[in-house]
Amino acid sequence: MTEQANLIYLDYAASTPVDPWVAEAMTALMTADGNYANPSSTHIAGRRSVEFIRHATGQLAALLNTDPGCLIWTSGATESDNLAILGAAHYRQVRGQHLITMRTEHKAVTDPFNTLQKQGFEVTWLDPETDGLLDIAKLAAALRDDTQLVSIMHINNETGVTQDIEQLGRLCHERGCLFHVDAAQSVGKLPIDLATLPVDLMSMTAHKVYGPKGIGALYIADRPGVHVDPLLFGGGQQRNLRPGTLPAQQIVGFGAAAAIAQSRMIDDRKHLGAMRDRLWSGIRDIPGISTNGAMECAFAGILNVSIEDVEGESLMLALEPLCVATGSACNSKSQEPSYVLRALGRSDELAQSAIRFSFGRPTRSQDIDVAIELYRNAISKLRGMAPERAA
Ligand SMILES: Cc1ncc(COP(=O)(O)O)c(C=O)c1O
Repeated sequence: MTEQANLIYLDYAASTPVDPWVAEAMTALMTADGNYANPSSTHIAGRRSVEFIRHATGQLAALLNTDPGCLIWTSGATESDNLAILGAAHYRQVRGQHLITMRTEHKAVTDPFNTLQKQGFEVTWLDPETDGLLDIAKLAAALRDDTQLVSIMHINNETGVTQDIEQLGRLCHERGCLFHVDAAQSVGKLPIDLATLPVDLMSMTAHKVYGPKGIGALYIADRPGVHVDPLLFGGGQQRNLRPGTLPAQQIVGFGAAAAIAQSRMIDDRKHLGAMRDRLWSGIRDIPGISTNGAMECAFAGILNVSIEDVEGESLMLALEPLCVATGSACNSKSQEPSYVLRALGRSDELAQSAIRFSFGRPTRSQDIDVAIELYRNAISKLRGMAPERAA
């Protein structure tokens, strides 16, 4: 579209474009001359669809170094989080009803926990330190004999802060409870070795890593005691854990995206780091600017900054045609200050002025330079209305 040409898109943590190679692989399963058959059908065309799915499951499993049998296809990370949290809590409720999570989790995690609380489960909500990290001593103090599940995300979608899931998971296992990780922002971006990580359940999604929207997966470790009760009931697919006709073209898209991510991960990270550093060096001298979440603990694909004496909504408007997020994309329609940034101890005003820049494979240095200019101009303009604090 011609309109796209004028946009500077720095919102890759919200969604990424589909890689052309991924789109091509998907098309081959959609049209009349392709393999569009229902993979549940037992005829030859159905069996071919199954083969495509098997291949794609192998590609995602290879990225995560796990057994393909541990992966369940879902519609995205929201569904995976719901299935993991509601499913594991219900499956293990006879052993205990205490659960632990963090206040900085995505809504796809906090809402299932709120639902469980209403059903009579007890939930402990942990706060991060001001840098965004969870102090392991807080988790150790919160764990009890009846704790069944701990859910902590890998990369935070607003700040990029990355938790040490290996250390946290080890503690959970020592204390006999399951560990779920929302890895929607990290799969395909950070190395994840499920053969060695002490993780029981992991949620992921394709559209943050150049795959299509509407497909995700849940990893369920093949260990005693690790199981989820299903949320859906139907045709028996995926061992009844998540029935429904498998969307072969979406699955093939996720598989292809996973294979590309695996081969490009090191280069991708170098590129994202260069883009983030270029942006931060271009704006860090503006008076009253600060990062949300410590940059040293954050994934390079996300830079979240707040600014004093500037109102968030006006800033967002003044930044057009820059496509960025205020807080989480899923929350950006809300005028409320981000609960994630509030949990880091930011004031309402600073949380409201937060802008999340996120970078992707297509981001070029020129995009960053335009973003720097737009951001600096917007701050000067808005502070021009309050001249005592001009940038
Ligand atoms: C950390 C995190 N969890 C869950 C989700 C939801 O993912 P999906 O859009 O695949 O449902 C997102 C997407 O914004 C996310 O960033």
